[in-house]
Amino acid sequence: MKRRIGVLHGVNLDQLGKRDPEQYGTFTLSELEGKIKRFADEFDFDVTFWQTNHEGEYCEQLHLARERADGLVLNPGAWTHYSYAIADALEVSGLPAVEVHISEVDNREEEWRRLSVICDLCVGRVQGKGADGYRDALEILRRELGD
Ligand code: DQA
Repeated sequence: MKRRIGVLHGVNLDQLGKRDPEQYGTFTLSELEGKIKRFADEFDFDVTFWQTNHEGEYCEQLHLARERADGLVLNPGAWTHYSYAIADALEVSGLPAVEVHISEVDNREEEWRRLSVICDLCVGRVQGKGADGYRDALEILRRELGD
């Protein structure tokens, strides 16, 4: 049976392609998902994608993930930096999760981006590698989930 990986994109990730290209590149969300799908195929993962701009919906998706996925790749966008609700919901999921950021959040101008309220609940954290960071995240999950 293929391992099921849920990739949950958070707030404003649907605006990729229109956001600051220096930080986020020029690719759209659907182009990013196409790339992640190819990475997932390399690892023989069954990958599903989901995006919302609503925090409560993101929490509900984490609740559902408990039954629907074996591992998670999370880019909650700005929620990463302050949403204790999402941190609690991630704990409910009980799943191994990797936190991913397209930009290098620890080295950006705004200090608030340096805090992650979910990183202690994650098995890995990838930042500043653009779309390729999602491949790293899947690799971490492959190690975590075993063959
Ligand atoms: C982001 C970084 C966050 O600080 C920002 O709010 C985002 C995207 C990233 O992928 O680099 O929306 O998570």
